[in-house]
Amino acid sequence: MAKIIIKNGLVVDPAQKISAIMDILIVDGKIAKIAKTIRVSGAKIINAIGLLVLPGLVDLHTHLRDPGQSEKETIATGTKAAAKGGFTSICCMANTNPPADSPAVVRYIKDKAASQGVVNVYPIAAVTKGLRGELLAEMGLNLQAGAVAFSDDGRPIMDARIMRLALEYSRQFGVPIIAHCEEANLAKDGVMNEGALSTAMGLPGIPALAEELMVARDIRLVKEYGGSLHIAHISTARSVDLVRQAKKQGISVTCETCPHYFTLTEAAVNNYNTNAKVNPPLRTEADVKAIKRGLKDGTIDIIATDHAPHNIELKDIEFNSAAFGMVGLETALPLVLTELVNTKILSLSQAIEKLTLVPARRLKLDKGTLMVGAEADVVIVDPRVQIKVEPSEFASKSHNTPFAGRALYGKVLFTVVGGKFVVTNGQLVSNDK
Ligand code: DOR
Repeated sequence: MAKIIIKNGLVVDPAQKISAIMDILIVDGKIAKIAKTIRVSGAKIINAIGLLVLPGLVDLHTHLRDPGQSEKETIATGTKAAAKGGFTSICCMANTNPPADSPAVVRYIKDKAASQGVVNVYPIAAVTKGLRGELLAEMGLNLQAGAVAFSDDGRPIMDARIMRLALEYSRQFGVPIIAHCEEANLAKDGVMNEGALSTAMGLPGIPALAEELMVARDIRLVKEYGGSLHIAHISTARSVDLVRQAKKQGISVTCETCPHYFTLTEAAVNNYNTNAKVNPPLRTEADVKAIKRGLKDGTIDIIATDHAPHNIELKDIEFNSAAFGMVGLETALPLVLTELVNTKILSLSQAIEKLTLVPARRLKLDKGTLMVGAEADVVIVDPRVQIKVEPSEFASKSHNTPFAGRALYGKVLFTVVGGKFVVTNGQLVSNDK
């Protein structure tokens, strides 16, 4: 029996309301015991004094680009990036080439992840065929093939009737629709947040209202017809408020934001920095404050990465033509620790809950906890070490981050997936990209 003891770390497991110095015993890939002191012979011992011992993080929103865009990322490189960032389970979006709108593609992702992935991969299937927003994909068959949710992320579902049908099916299946809320006509041709800065820079803007109209519509649809709605990457103050009001009324809706929306404002695109071009766009100071308030008061349930790798040919070009998106798996945890925990906006437990338990529960994944009997997905982090974001060191195939050079707290030292070390002393165990 393979035994590992992680000794004397600060174990934070919101599922068990644990936040204390403890030992964890892993036997044959499963959590076998958590206690103040564990003594077992023949175990590999990891000394975690001064370190955080967390459930492996769960990302509800990763773009793995596989199949079809291996110049940006593959299942192999994307899962390595996840492991380096402390994520042991990731849910991958359907806007691949071809899109994940059929059982064949869903199965391809699962099979490839099983053979080449180093973390757990859960495919999210498209809501509509070809992500065109016109005809529903075979949601039931895609679910049977292994999808854990449905999303046309990257594109909105403009047709309210299609969204209604999707929500009705989601109610039947008990699996959420993850909505990319964007009124496409209002957002058309926009490349950054609409406001004084876009005017000054001479760039077409995407108004906050383009997001908010669709957040309002989808909340209204779910109120009327039921269903399971999760709103992706919310970025504006009024979106947060719409979700807050909906929850107060007892409407069943959840939402996520991403590290860039609580860390950066639209000012990051100054100098026409395409690495800060993302959809929805970075917003204003007031929006960033509102996102933080929403995280703090529980309106925003989940922190997801929206890891969106793009090759340099799509970023090192003029701003209008550059692709939307930024990589996020390898910076998310340090950004959360530095910007939310160290600033006391969230307690450590609250932050970890939004990165583990809540996303896992939302998609009914048996993940996100260190409960005895669970698969041993564990991450060990040194919260005191300051790292400098160095894109050339990313395991991701793409380097499109606006955080290059930024000093952040928190270094992932060990990532364990099902009892197997994938990252040791901050390095991938087999580093063949
Ligand atoms: O910036 C983004 N990039 N937003 C999205 O919704 C899609 C993503 C991508 O696929 O690149």
